[in-house]
Amino acid sequence: MAQQERLVCASSELVDGGKGVRFSVERPPESGAVPAFVIRYRGKIYAYLNRCAHIGVELDWIEGEFFDDSGLYLICSTHGATYAPHSGLCIGGPCRGKSLQCLEIEERDGNIFLKD
Ligand code: FES
Repeated sequence: MAQQERLVCASSELVDGGKGVRFSVERPPESGAVPAFVIRYRGKIYAYLNRCAHIGVELDWIEGEFFDDSGLYLICSTHGATYAPHSGLCIGGPCRGKSLQCLEIEERDGNIFLKD
């Protein structure tokens, strides 16, 4: 079966180390929409489910604010777990060694697409 894709946002919406864009995905057998986000880091884009590896809450209290002040790490607003933006690996905090769940994403022709 051919892979499907869905437009998430325009490339211009993602500044390196800046605000991310929230979207949602279907993840059967889970019912309903599951929150996710995409960010840009060192020129590349990365997308993850918006679920902290600690207790599964969304990372951003302020919508789209996934990076810490340095712009080098993703940070969970709840208990401060920090994640490597390029791998989703938790490198500090209560879920150290666990990872965010990554999603397949592609940047093309000025837009960002989620691959199915
Ligand atoms: S819920 Fe994210 S660090 Fe605890």
